Amino acid sequence: MAKSLKGASKTVVNSWNEWDPLKHVIVGRADFCCIPAPEPALDAKVPEDSDMRGMHGPRPQATVEKANAQLDNYAKILESRGIRVDRPTPIQWNRSVGTPDWQVDSMFGCMPPRDVLLTVGKEILEATMSYRCRWFEYLAYRPLLEAYFEDDPGMRWEAAPKPRLTDKDYRADYLSDKIGIEKRLKWMAEKYFVTTDHEPLFDAADTCRMGKDLFIQHGFTTNLKAMNWMQRHFPEHRVHPVNFPGDPYPIHIDATFVPLRPGLIINNPKRKLPEAQRKIFQKNGWEIVDAAQPAHKTPPPLCYSSVWLSMNCLVIDPKTVCVEASEVYQMEQMDKLGFEVIPVPFRDAYAFGGGLHCATGDVYREGKCEDYFPKQ
Ligand code: GLY
Repeated sequence: MAKSLKGASKTVVNSWNEWDPLKHVIVGRADFCCIPAPEPALDAKVPEDSDMRGMHGPRPQATVEKANAQLDNYAKILESRGIRVDRPTPIQWNRSVGTPDWQVDSMFGCMPPRDVLLTVGKEILEATMSYRCRWFEYLAYRPLLEAYFEDDPGMRWEAAPKPRLTDKDYRADYLSDKIGIEKRLKWMAEKYFVTTDHEPLFDAADTCRMGKDLFIQHGFTTNLKAMNWMQRHFPEHRVHPVNFPGDPYPIHIDATFVPLRPGLIINNPKRKLPEAQRKIFQKNGWEIVDAAQPAHKTPPPLCYSSVWLSMNCLVIDPKTVCVEASEVYQMEQMDKLGFEVIPVPFRDAYAFGGGLHCATGDVYREGKCEDYFPKQ
């Protein structure tokens, strides 16, 4: 029988949106994290001018330690706000793994729980993932999920169908490392992404939870078949595919479209939600404002993400938000929007899989499932 978490407050899994008061969260760890070896979906995502092209293997230990120091500090800041923080159990990611269909030289890491675990109400759903190197990442979270299942009799623990991830899942056109931004943007507008619709594929971080409505980014890491699967899996919810044509590397919605509280969303000004997809927000009185400009011109070294991690913030209640401490423009915007801003130093952790939202996974937020979009 799985052990419950000693000394922890009572576990209740419950989280319906991105803004209700947060009381229990998972914060990732950087241990053993690797730059994965080339594989179809991953190659399409690594920016064409990135210092990471052609590199793979364990990340330098000094960078792991710096990232872990910032992750630990972030956990302490959240705890000082009365939020219970749990941490995953890293495994040795620098190990060749495979299934009957493929083999890769290493795995990835467990810094971004948001990519793997989707909490919808009382359910925590393990995503299919869409990179081969991330197929086994759920293992780092199993000790926590087993304990939550033990402690909360109402928790639903689910795993989406494990995908085959054969070459049928990826478009061969993306195998070139010289596609060029112009062609990429044309493909994005046509929704010609690296992943096909051969089988359901999704990363949890493509889903933005707003009560009864789930807005899911269609892009490199989540396909339409996954949205069909999600709609059948969550029959009481309404699943809305969204896409952001200005993003040449569209993975994960949380540096693009971030709700801050009921009625208010910040949208990346370079990746605007298309007009037709704005209607549901307009009809229901939601405001979509441009996010502030990032404070940095480039991401840190060996980082997959863009400078727009500036807007990858963690709302801990509808009046309080964590923003990366060097993102002065984003902090200023949050302040003007009426938030108490908690600055959290986090740039040393970016390269390990994202920003302050990516690095967390919800377990408990107060509140229940509300209908924020009664006019469909
Ligand atoms: N998808 C995260 C980013 O903007 O890089």
